[in-house]
Amino acid sequence: MDGLRRLEYRGYDSAGVALPDGGGLYVEKRAGKLGNLDKALAESEAVPRDATVGIGHTRWATHGGPTDRNAHPHRSADGRVAVIHNGIIENFAVLRAELEATGVEFASDTDTECAAHLLAAELASGAGLTEAMTRVCRRLTGAFTLLAVDALDPGTVVGARRNSPLVVGKGEGEYWLASDVSAFLSYTREAVELGQDQIVTIDRGGITVTGFDGLPADATPYTVDWDADAAEKGGYEHFMLKEIEEQPTAVRDTLRGRFTATGEIALDEVRLSDQDLRDTDKVFIVACGTSYHAGLVAKYAIEHWTRLPCEVELASEFRYRDPVLDRSTLVIVISQSGETMDTIMALRHAKEQKARVLAISNTVGSTIPRESDAVLYTRAGLEVAVASTKAFLTQLVACYLVGLHLAQIRGVKYADEVAAILDELAAMPEKIQTVLAAMDPVRELARSLAGVQPVLFIGRHVGYPVALEGALKLKELAYLHAEGFAAGELKHGPISLIEDGTPVVVIVPSPRGRGLLHDKVVSNIQEVKARGAKVIAVAEDGDTAVVPHADEVVYVPVVPTLLAPLLTAVPLQVFACEVAGALGLEIDQPRNLAKSVTVE
Ligand code: F6R
Repeated sequence: MDGLRRLEYRGYDSAGVALPDGGGLYVEKRAGKLGNLDKALAESEAVPRDATVGIGHTRWATHGGPTDRNAHPHRSADGRVAVIHNGIIENFAVLRAELEATGVEFASDTDTECAAHLLAAELASGAGLTEAMTRVCRRLTGAFTLLAVDALDPGTVVGARRNSPLVVGKGEGEYWLASDVSAFLSYTREAVELGQDQIVTIDRGGITVTGFDGLPADATPYTVDWDADAAEKGGYEHFMLKEIEEQPTAVRDTLRGRFTATGEIALDEVRLSDQDLRDTDKVFIVACGTSYHAGLVAKYAIEHWTRLPCEVELASEFRYRDPVLDRSTLVIVISQSGETMDTIMALRHAKEQKARVLAISNTVGSTIPRESDAVLYTRAGLEVAVASTKAFLTQLVACYLVGLHLAQIRGVKYADEVAAILDELAAMPEKIQTVLAAMDPVRELARSLAGVQPVLFIGRHVGYPVALEGALKLKELAYLHAEGFAAGELKHGPISLIEDGTPVVVIVPSPRGRGLLHDKVVSNIQEVKARGAKVIAVAEDGDTAVVPHADEVVYVPVVPTLLAPLLTAVPLQVFACEVAGALGLEIDQPRNLAKSVTVE
């Protein structure tokens, strides 16, 4: 239950456990949060408390609504096998029809249940649990992590994975299987990473790993360097608040050791040769959600610094539009979890087209870094809140480093120019801290506006993706209608949304340097103000030009325009979090969402 609690952020529609109980299987499952299962277990007299093997699951519904009957584990009709599953079995309809034709009655609407019945049929024909799992996996298409227990083999658990994560934790005389190491970190840091299409059997004899072909397979042991405390709230009311406050540290950690005082960027773990990078003639950035917004910011920096064309694409769209890719295309995939299925499929498509793939990820050993040609890890530490905050800022930092590295290697930027930008980057943690220390007025403003909708967010240049991110945070946390727009685009349609009092959050560019951009945004502020908007400006210290037009101004320190998102995103995170809090909503686990979206 402790492990499930730690994984609940990945999905929390329903939860359940299965334990062998002397000849049969005890299964308890409940719709809703883990607390419902906890209560059912506490009240049940039938829990086999001496069981030494068990499986448990917390679900994010794909096939079948979040009800008790669709909660995992699922049992075979004969009651012998129980199965839990992450992912989607894409050929489940064919399998279900086939099973139903043989008289099997289904007890749920899930794709998972067919795996239980197929396993039972294999066991009935004399196979052991590992052999049965191997045969069944060969018949399944799609993405799945499956775990199964057999009532007649109560000391064994068998797991299998294809396109979906599964790690083994090794303790003293005990083992864990989980989709994320955080489930067992308080018991052991020793882990074994399973490869694609592998089956793991755990019994008294230890662990055995085989492939879907039935042959012995290698699995890589590693030691997790995260602290179990990182998975705790450390005195904060919500993980999200803690993670917002951790941003200066996360940014500092992501920069640490990656450049020298003379401006040489050393991305040792990026296993792409300098020649590969010199040969690059086009960059694609592919990601989802908040990570996509980081990519949109990166486009401005990469094109400006490297003079290479850079396109940013939603991972879920990428492979369906047949993008033009070849050996000289660099595809940067950004994924905090490293397990997002849309991004995995996009990365595979890029590799099939011979493009070189560089991953930016926060999760060591996850699928996306493993399948990429190279990886640059962000060092945000464990991010538990479903709404991404510190991972976003560290993704921006990683993108800046990649952009500068490319510019340097391709000879577009001189070392002293790069060194000057790196100095500015190195000063960012302190400036983020300054922003965080001044958030009380933002909280107050958020409380005064809680529940008002729509809320519009507008910006230009790198302020545009920040506006998109601000709107996404408010949507996902506060369930309010919020939209981000390019400020110049407003007059082409969305300005008709504005009524008396409609809040419009404006990301105002610096008046220095690209002053023209600043003046254009001030004009946009006047346009919305004239139509009754309540204008909240996020502007640079000393920008007095916005004061006459804005109802509220949130100031952030002066930084180069391209780096400004590291500061301007922060008040928007705090705003969304505070609005959700004022509305009494669940901050760390908003409805309908999951931290790792391992389905397409
Ligand atoms: C929003 C959020 C999501 C993720 C998206 C991609 O706050 O967290 O939009 O950014 O699901 O996830 P990763 O980065 O794990 O691929």
